[in-house]
Amino acid sequence: MTRAEQSPTAADSGASATQVFRANQQYHVGDGASPERVSAVVKALLDGVHETIRTYEVTYSEFQAAKQWLIEVGEGGEWPLFLDVFVEHEVEEVAAAGQQGSKGSILGPYYVPDAVKLPSVTSLPMRADEQGRRLVFAGQVLDTGGAPVAGAELDIWHADHEGYYSGFAPHLPEGNLRGVVVADDDGRFEISTIEPAPYQIPTDGPTGQLVQAAGWHPWRPAHLHLIVRAPGYRPITTQLYFAGGNWLDNDVAQATKPELVLDPQPQSDGTARQEYDFVLEPTSQ
Ligand code: DHB
Ligand code: FE
Repeated sequence: MTRAEQSPTAADSGASATQVFRANQQYHVGDGASPERVSAVVKALLDGVHETIRTYEVTYSEFQAAKQWLIEVGEGGEWPLFLDVFVEHEVEEVAAAGQQGSKGSILGPYYVPDAVKLPSVTSLPMRADEQGRRLVFAGQVLDTGGAPVAGAELDIWHADHEGYYSGFAPHLPEGNLRGVVVADDDGRFEISTIEPAPYQIPTDGPTGQLVQAAGWHPWRPAHLHLIVRAPGYRPITTQLYFAGGNWLDNDVAQATKPELVLDPQPQSDGTARQEYDFVLEPTSQ
């Protein structure tokens, strides 16, 4: 069996997530924070660790097992997966405080920049035999004053009918179910795709092992990822979920919000259709 035919593993998705993060982000230790802030934040974090050790009377063998696990998360390239599932939702909430426009949600580890540009009306790139209910996702990008945002970009990506993302699962073609859709002069867009399946944290890596050891579940509800952007506006990174879908009420990543739940309506041609408008906040008034 060739590598391309193998089923996706945590090692594949973890290593790719770390590579993609490194390629796209140029952050370094200490960037953008004063020594006072580094000291205060890291001290608070360590205080929490020390407090937990005292409260639970953590043993030497548990401490060494934790060290081993941390080493494996790094070696498996799973830090982007772990941090985006268990930490990013809180960073997103803090970042969104006081902002106007459509609700956002976490970026997650599976964004790949520079997807193919597709003028609306369009279909996302997909395999000839792509499985899943056909979904037409259409709407308008407006500003906070209600005016259309001509030529806004909807950078959209999502998992396939089995919950796998292209670029992070070797059996999927590059760029599958990813695109930068360009809205028309009225800010309108219409995107044909398929409905994704729920996403499962890979169970064969250290993050999955932790989830299992704790007796938690490893699932996120099915979702579309979007970054909606236009020059002069604050970009919105968000996710959209599906009413009635599994795990909607207990997302392992705690990244659902009531405003972000779609309810696509079945059409006579067998597709499901969803209208959804986005509102962007100007960066300068
Ligand atoms: C993770 C995966 C996702 O698809 C997502 O949207 C957020 C987080 C993860 O595995 O970390
Ligand atoms: Fe996702």
